[in-house]
Amino acid sequence: MLLLLLLLLFSTSLRAQIDRSCGTDPTNLWLDVVVVVDNSIGMTQGGMIEVAAQIATVFGGGTRIGTNYADKRTTRVGLVTYNKSAQIQADLNRFQSADDLFNSVFQILPQLSTSNEVYLATGIAAAEQVLNAGRKNNTRTNYKQLVMIYASDYRDDGEQDPRPTAQRLKTSGVNIVTVAFNQNGNEAILQSIGEIASPGFNFTNIDDNLVNEIQGAMIQTNCFCHNLWTQYREQFGVVSSLKYGVCLRPVAITAGWVPAKLACQNMIQTGYMVTEYTKHKHDFVFNLIQNDTTFPEPYVYHIGLSYVNGGFFWQQPVGHALVPFQLNDSLWNPGYPQQSAVNAGVLNQQATQVISVGWQNVNQYTVAERYVCEVASCDTENYCE
Ligand SMILES: *[C@@H]1O[C@H](CO)[C@@H](O)[C@H](O)[C@H]1NC(C)=O
Ligand SMILES: *[C@@H]1O[C@H](CO)[C@@H](O)[C@H](O)[C@H]1NC(C)=O
Ligand SMILES: *[C@@H]1O[C@H](CO)[C@@H](O)[C@H](O)[C@H]1NC(C)=O
Ligand SMILES: *[C@@H]1O[C@H](CO)[C@@H](O)[C@H](O)[C@H]1NC(C)=O
Ligand SMILES: *[C@@H]1O[C@H](CO)[C@@H](O)[C@H](O)[C@H]1NC(C)=O
Repeated sequence: MLLLLLLLLFSTSLRAQIDRSCGTDPTNLWLDVVVVVDNSIGMTQGGMIEVAAQIATVFGGGTRIGTNYADKRTTRVGLVTYNKSAQIQADLNRFQSADDLFNSVFQILPQLSTSNEVYLATGIAAAEQVLNAGRKNNTRTNYKQLVMIYASDYRDDGEQDPRPTAQRLKTSGVNIVTVAFNQNGNEAILQSIGEIASPGFNFTNIDDNLVNEIQGAMIQTNCFCHNLWTQYREQFGVVSSLKYGVCLRPVAITAGWVPAKLACQNMIQTGYMVTEYTKHKHDFVFNLIQNDTTFPEPYVYHIGLSYVNGGFFWQQPVGHALVPFQLNDSLWNPGYPQQSAVNAGVLNQQATQVISVGWQNVNQYTVAERYVCEVASCDTENYCE
């Protein structure tokens, strides 16, 4: 019994030393999505029914469609069809329930057009119009925007080039998913459609796991950081790499360890000084610092590790218990920690002639250095005003 309890305690403390993942609950998605569907002959009627079924599946996991809910985590869905020209079938305010959305897509999409002339440029321009209209009067400016394009063909001649609009959308923070319909194995068309997408969001209708891929794109789009914060990811600077549910912000104004801790707590609600549970996180934070011109060499910055009541602990949001430090990925510089009770604050210090930093403990009031703050990302678990 006691052993079981100990094991349980041990395993929960191990689990606590992993960085937060992005929230993944489809029920709690909060997005503005415009679905853009090519209805030219190339899509075929079967293809159009497939798309309708897929939209119903992707949003059918309990996602709150529309805006009439007590919970602010809601998703608005607009619908555009296009061939030679585009038609806005539904703006972002039309669908007010999942049933409403499903009935409409099964009514609208199976109506294949007779057109074999198809310009993605017209569809994507209509999507931009729908998104802009949905932001009138500063409505839902804290919600991320996603455009989901189903396309069977691609042309970019003359004024019908979809790339400038796609680029403008992506630059302004809109994510684009493409699902290329593979009609006759034309690789060049598939590739061109995919190039419109945000990195890693280019899919095809024959992908084994298309629904999961699209849901993953929605979850990742819904996981983001406030301005001035950088999202912790699998690979530094690679925007298609997996995001963690953690945001980081280097602060270039020096302070003692304790004042820096308080500054992080006051900078943003539920903020705290950065944790370095793993070497991976430590390296990511160091990359961030090296890329920040307001941090001079040699690099020195406080982190959220300190000596409290006989042990080292990691900072957490105010009101949460500190997380005990584990010896695992120890990143102390040689000779450290020393005199922990006196020197209770920990910082990263670059040694001379090496491009790396390691931990050193210092007096937590008198040693003023730059520092790094951390906060949970905005995502399905964490609504941000
Ligand atoms: C193109 O699609 C629109 C709806 O998006 C439809 O009204 C129009 O008739 C279609 N064009 C042709 C030639 O079928
Ligand atoms: C947006 O503002 C306009 C006037 O500027 C007003 O007529 C309209 O009702 C507002 N729309 C919403 C959704 O509040
Ligand atoms: C998506 O784009 C990447 C990079 O260009 C490419 O390697 C990959 O094959 C594309 N995936 C699909 C499904 O087209
Ligand atoms: C590196 O710094 C530049 C200039 O401030 C910035 O634009 C860029 O986004 C930074 N890169 C990363 C991956 O944070
Ligand atoms: C610590 O080490 C153990 C055993 O090597 C490993 O199973 C565990 O995942 C490590 N924990 C962390 C947070 O790296």
